[in-house]
Amino acid sequence: MDTIIRYLGHAGFIVIHRHTTILVDPWFFPAFLKSWFPYPDNRFLLDAVYGLKADYLYVSHLHQDHFDRRLLERLDKSIKILAPNYRSRSLARKFRGLGFENLIPLDHKQSIEVAPGLTATMYLDTSHKEDSGLLLETDGFRFLDLNDCNTRISELPTDIDVLAAQYSGAMWYPNCYDYPPDVMLQKVEAVRRDLMDTLVRKARITKARYYIPSAGPACFLDPVLMHYNDRDRTIFPIWENVSDEFAVACPEVEALRLQPGDRLLFDKPEQEPVHELSADRRVSEDLDDYSRRRKDDWGEFYREAERPIAPEELEAYFARLQRRNKHFLADFSKDVRLVAGSNAWRVQLGQLAEHFVIEGEEPYDPEYSFFMSPRVLRQIIDGREGWEEALLSMRVVLKREPDIFDSRFMGLLRYGNEPVQTLQMLRETYNTETIERDGLRMQRFCPHAGEDLTYAIVCDGVIECPRHHWKWNLWTGECIDGGTLPLRVEVIDPNLLRQSRHD
Ligand code: FES
Repeated sequence: MDTIIRYLGHAGFIVIHRHTTILVDPWFFPAFLKSWFPYPDNRFLLDAVYGLKADYLYVSHLHQDHFDRRLLERLDKSIKILAPNYRSRSLARKFRGLGFENLIPLDHKQSIEVAPGLTATMYLDTSHKEDSGLLLETDGFRFLDLNDCNTRISELPTDIDVLAAQYSGAMWYPNCYDYPPDVMLQKVEAVRRDLMDTLVRKARITKARYYIPSAGPACFLDPVLMHYNDRDRTIFPIWENVSDEFAVACPEVEALRLQPGDRLLFDKPEQEPVHELSADRRVSEDLDDYSRRRKDDWGEFYREAERPIAPEELEAYFARLQRRNKHFLADFSKDVRLVAGSNAWRVQLGQLAEHFVIEGEEPYDPEYSFFMSPRVLRQIIDGREGWEEALLSMRVVLKREPDIFDSRFMGLLRYGNEPVQTLQMLRETYNTETIERDGLRMQRFCPHAGEDLTYAIVCDGVIECPRHHWKWNLWTGECIDGGTLPLRVEVIDPNLLRQSRHD
């Protein structure tokens, strides 16, 4: 075997098998409008990564805590890149834009022998989301790095020796929303439960022997964002907050708690790995001190002078977004309020509002409101950052009325720059393949992001998707929790039908 896994922090690894080295998701510099930082600080490993003569680089997806542009600019451009072959080709485009030429595009479940006796297999999230995991396999040893990727549960590989996967949140919901504290706490608890449930499923289905907690949480070092480091009241727990829960749910899986710089040495199959602690090991951080050390980094967000946004700029931005996504916007309309500093605009989206109006502040009831500084909105309008990045930065506060996730609206904002992704969202909604189970005939793939509902939980008149835990009424298909998209479902078991009449 002779395999070494060195942890770089967050979702980063260096995997060495004999004479072959693979660098995975190295992240060191702040992400998402200078708001996210690796936790604990891993900067002491930066020189080692710059000096590494890696044969391959694998970056799982374009989120900036994985695709670290500032770091990638400094890497040797001749490195071979194991590149997830996404529909939008945006990852490949970005790599080429940085000067990398040696891309090896890999489709879902496509394998490549990267060195004698070492195979890499790509696992994509085949939904409209573009994310991936990588299976590295040597003689008798299988390391599956799922980072924060949600490959369909039915397609995950099994007999995994070491699984690396996310346990902590990496989303703006619910902490960016304007909920009262008691509601916020309930929502945070629900998301944390879902995160653990997803992890437990992954560990069980892959039959992992060992689990490496990874891919989060990040920390926030800009003083205005520091409250998001609260490990009890946010969806960003550290492993010690949730490890007992995991141990109860998966007693057969041993969690290997690594810190940046630590190494795992695998010698022979069935043998316990040797865990070498890094001499520079940081188990936790004094966040005030860390924030002072990185003041120049997060301070960059404030360096550029604020420039006012003209209504014409907003109008042009949303008109372009709508034009690019016409296929996605039939019968769609949405009333949105944007507030940036002391300015507020009403944006009416949808084909019915082709000549939509942007006005000054006046009373009306928008379904979604966005509050942010003009700096954030400026970066979006100028195309330097997308809504996905702005929302992940936690520099936007959201309010929605009613309190229901609108996947089409959020899809337009998050993926509208890559219309191939919004097109895929439509395909997922209208996919016609069905399955029969529990006396029901229902669509096989979740209308939200295509999870295989063969693995759905069906209980007490409710169908629950195992991925993001949307719930539907079993009798009507109405979405009762999570989003707005209905599920096509029909009760076919005569006993169930009789029971419903009886009820
Ligand atoms: S895939 Fe998101 S709820 Fe089903």
